[in-house]
Amino acid sequence: MTYSLIVGNWKMYKSISEATTLINAIKAGVRAATEVNIAVCVPFTALQAANEALQGSKIDLGAQNMHYESEGAFTGEISPLMLKEVGCRYVILGHSERRQHFKESDELINKKVLAALKYSFIPIVCIGETLEQREARQAFEVVKKQFEGSLAHLEAKDLERIVIAYEPVWAIGTGKTATPEQAEQMHSYIRRLLIEKYGDDTASKVRILYGGSVKPDNITQLMEKPNLDGALVGGASLKAESFIQIVTNSTHLSGARGN
Ligand code: PGA
Repeated sequence: MTYSLIVGNWKMYKSISEATTLINAIKAGVRAATEVNIAVCVPFTALQAANEALQGSKIDLGAQNMHYESEGAFTGEISPLMLKEVGCRYVILGHSERRQHFKESDELINKKVLAALKYSFIPIVCIGETLEQREARQAFEVVKKQFEGSLAHLEAKDLERIVIAYEPVWAIGTGKTATPEQAEQMHSYIRRLLIEKYGDDTASKVRILYGGSVKPDNITQLMEKPNLDGALVGGASLKAESFIQIVTNSTHLSGARGN
């Protein structure tokens, strides 16, 4: 049985003390949520405090980016070993904001994914089309290219430790969620790509999260779709109340695919 996975992406928000307060509130609120995996991906400066605050809870810690080398002359970068040291289990890679503002390519993201696996993280690899691309009917082509490029050189056994997040760029931070049908259409397409490349068994083990304006009032309908295995939540993860509600509203639907 694979539980659904709800991940908070805090982006560039929260000081150290704010992070501690938010985590304590989330911890208290999700105590009863047993059949769901939960993680928070916090800013680098708050990782250590977050790790301490999360001790004794079932919530995992994650980072939002990582360099692919273990150390070296890479001013301003963070290495896998540094993230290990502060207790990270997950790392978000290839988020559309990194692709857009920091010009991250599929090739670079792929190097990071391979490094994440080497250091036993669970990478959350983000893919998704822009509004322009969707309107030009290129969404599937773009997602396929990002899928193939970002997840190149992986073996089937690696796939079991990969999480894919489909995040249509036009739905991120805009309040404009993909409809459950639009999301399911792309998720089932990604599942087909996985089946073609790695076979049914492996493909069924990969969790595909949806991200883009996920809120307490739309999570239930999204999670009812068979190929949605969880959510990557930005804005609504910054308040304990909404994040707890999202976790609670997705709990009873976990394992909908029955694996
Ligand atoms: P959002 O962000 O929930 O604020 O739309 C999602 C994300 O960027 O991961």
